[in-house]
Amino acid sequence: MFPMRLDRFICKSTELSKVAAIERIDNGEVMVNGFISGVLVAKNRITASTQVHENNSIVMYGQRLKLRPFRYLLMHKPTATICSNINEQGYASLFSQITIDRIAELHIAGRLDVDTTGMVLITDDGRWTYNITLPTRRCEKVYRVGLSYPIGAESIDELVAKFHQGIQLQGELQLSLPAKLEIVTDQEVLLTIVEGKFHQVKRMFTAVGNKVVSLHREKIGGVELDVKVGEWRYLTASEVASFTE
Ligand code: URA
Repeated sequence: MFPMRLDRFICKSTELSKVAAIERIDNGEVMVNGFISGVLVAKNRITASTQVHENNSIVMYGQRLKLRPFRYLLMHKPTATICSNINEQGYASLFSQITIDRIAELHIAGRLDVDTTGMVLITDDGRWTYNITLPTRRCEKVYRVGLSYPIGAESIDELVAKFHQGIQLQGELQLSLPAKLEIVTDQEVLLTIVEGKFHQVKRMFTAVGNKVVSLHREKIGGVELDVKVGEWRYLTASEVASFTE
């Protein structure tokens, strides 16, 4: 675990709100490595913003606090749902289908558009999310893409090469990172990308004169979508670790 603020540590190890945690700290009800919070000791004072680590002894009312473990979920996003923590623009939040505690602490590691279906990863571990979303981590996302216009047999090689070399997206300064295009039928392809720019897949096909009519994410990293539409499951420990290897 990385260092975090003392008030955050208390929220993440108890049911207390941030305001209540700060109150406890200011009232001297918390001990960090034997030092009482709020009290000035050798020009130092333990406050809500003091950085603490899991190895530190943080005690409240005689009990050593322990962080709740992070949660990692995989979900099959239905169409017409929104990757937001609240219902928005007339669409139901994806989270409305998940019935576990402290939903507000969760976020989506790589959002999908309202009309896109498929795999989303959901967690309360912000650091872990970077392994999926940062382009520098090269985490592959595989999309099954339905296209408006058929790809002629004669243009397949050229198109595959274009996606591999990088596509110039409108409004972007740099080419997209190399992507892998596999032809399924003349109007269906599999596209593997390592970035997650806004509407990236749709913009990539627009840039080569086509149009996306259906979009479904079926794999992230080494994990494949294996639950039915609208269902979710927890990731296994080895799946969680696979994103940090
Ligand atoms: N690319 C898009 O255009 N939309 C998505 O939802 C995901 C990737």
